[in-house]
Amino acid sequence: MKIIIDTDPGQDDALTILLSVISEEIDLLGVTTVSGNVSVAQATENALQTLDLAGRPDIPVHAGADRPLLRAPVNAMHVHGRTGFEGADLPPASRRATPGHAVDFIIDTVMQHPPQDITVCAIGPMTNLALALAREPELRTRIGRIVSMSGAFSEVGNITPSAEFNIYVDPHAAEIVLASGIPLVMMPLDLTHKLHTSAERLARFRAIPNRVGPVVADWLTFEKRFEATKYGTDGGPLHDPNTVLWLLRPDLYQGRDVSVRVETGSELTMGMTVVDWWQITDHPRNVHFIREADVPALYDVITERLARF
Ligand code: BDR
Ligand code: CA
Repeated sequence: MKIIIDTDPGQDDALTILLSVISEEIDLLGVTTVSGNVSVAQATENALQTLDLAGRPDIPVHAGADRPLLRAPVNAMHVHGRTGFEGADLPPASRRATPGHAVDFIIDTVMQHPPQDITVCAIGPMTNLALALAREPELRTRIGRIVSMSGAFSEVGNITPSAEFNIYVDPHAAEIVLASGIPLVMMPLDLTHKLHTSAERLARFRAIPNRVGPVVADWLTFEKRFEATKYGTDGGPLHDPNTVLWLLRPDLYQGRDVSVRVETGSELTMGMTVVDWWQITDHPRNVHFIREADVPALYDVITERLARF
């Protein structure tokens, strides 16, 4: 599977990148960065550091949008720390971003491949994807699939009472992507809140006898500090890695084809995903919405893949 990861690392984004490069089923063509958890400059540095850690400094990293389409940037440094990578200190990246804007890279790469050949894993705000769709409308029939960590149904919100972070930061971009007709698999909070980064699971990562396992354990220990306190659980949620894990093991997930639309008109519920789970309307079912997973099996997959480094 050929994929592009569009991301705002973020510890959980970094784990997603690591899982993709170590999995022989996946060919990571490039990483594109976006303003989200941290600034796009910091996100780009973090993506480069992650690929250094993975021993893959050959994979392109293109910097993208430095702000949402219409709204002011919102970050998540209260969750991920000032650098987005607090918890583990990685050396400064060995290189700079690859020349060329993320939006150009997405368009050129998708258009140079056969139709539907490429999957985009969208694990940050969807600004780059929306800009790419505006610049090259043919992407609608050329991108094979988007697998996105975003949105929520019954878990509702994490950055506001009614909105998940990636959608809230750029709801107008999300609206464009969700209306594009591109097959979209959504990994919402309803799923990610079930994947607790418990002490026992992090201890298994830490015990892996390589450099990567302990770094991931340190990162997630920091990230869960805020979220475990907030939710009162043993460990925080695990968000973004579900995109790549679904590509590797779709049999471990369960969902439903539903209509999902994004609120962009109300300041109170800005970025809320309105999920027609009970099929009350006849709106097009634009999203395969995942709500259940075999969580212990997924942690086994993560542990086994990290041990390959
Ligand atoms: C999403 O927000 C970010 O903080 C995480 O990296 C994830 O992509 C969860 O709402
Ligand atoms: Ca993210």
